[in-house]
Amino acid sequence: MHACTHARTCCSVISVLSVQAEGVDLKIYCCDIIDFTKDLEGEFDAVWDRGAFGAINPDDRRGYATVVSSLMTRDCRYIACVLYYGDKAREEAGLPPDGAPHSIPLEQVQEPFASLCQVELLMKRPKDKNQLAGKPMSQECGESIYVIKKC
Ligand SMILES: C[S@@+](CC[C@H](N)C(=O)[O-])C[C@H]1O[C@@H](n2cnc3c(N)ncnc32)[C@H](O)[C@@H]1O
Repeated sequence: MHACTHARTCCSVISVLSVQAEGVDLKIYCCDIIDFTKDLEGEFDAVWDRGAFGAINPDDRRGYATVVSSLMTRDCRYIACVLYYGDKAREEAGLPPDGAPHSIPLEQVQEPFASLCQVELLMKRPKDKNQLAGKPMSQECGESIYVIKKC
């Protein structure tokens, strides 16, 4: 937003900062996604989530799925890009044993969306240098790309 003229306002519905770009169809809400509601912007035809589902606390996944699915039109396509890595990866990367970024297999994406959305694996994209947190991995790691549709 640095090079883009924009207006900052406090959103009256959920009392958070929103930033509206001028001359570009872009608006940013600075908030916890759990507080977002369709009263703000209605429903969306597409959702692109790169790294957010994989970053949230596992206990918040059902709440996240409930909010995001409530913002999706019937024909909306939600693309979620989530990391995958092997069981040695966190240690090899020097990461603590648990925490973000989580490696999330299909069934752990399906579970929070159960009865709300269908989740399928679209593709797996191995990382070019097979690195996590800048460290080389002995097992394959990369990005799982899931497509999520309303039931
Ligand atoms: C790994 S970063 C990915 C950022 C960006 N999408 C990208 O691809 O570079 C994860 C993002 O999820 C956001 N996030 C995690 N939990 C959130 C929540 N409850 N509400 C809003 N954003 C959240 C974090 O603020 C962070 O920006």
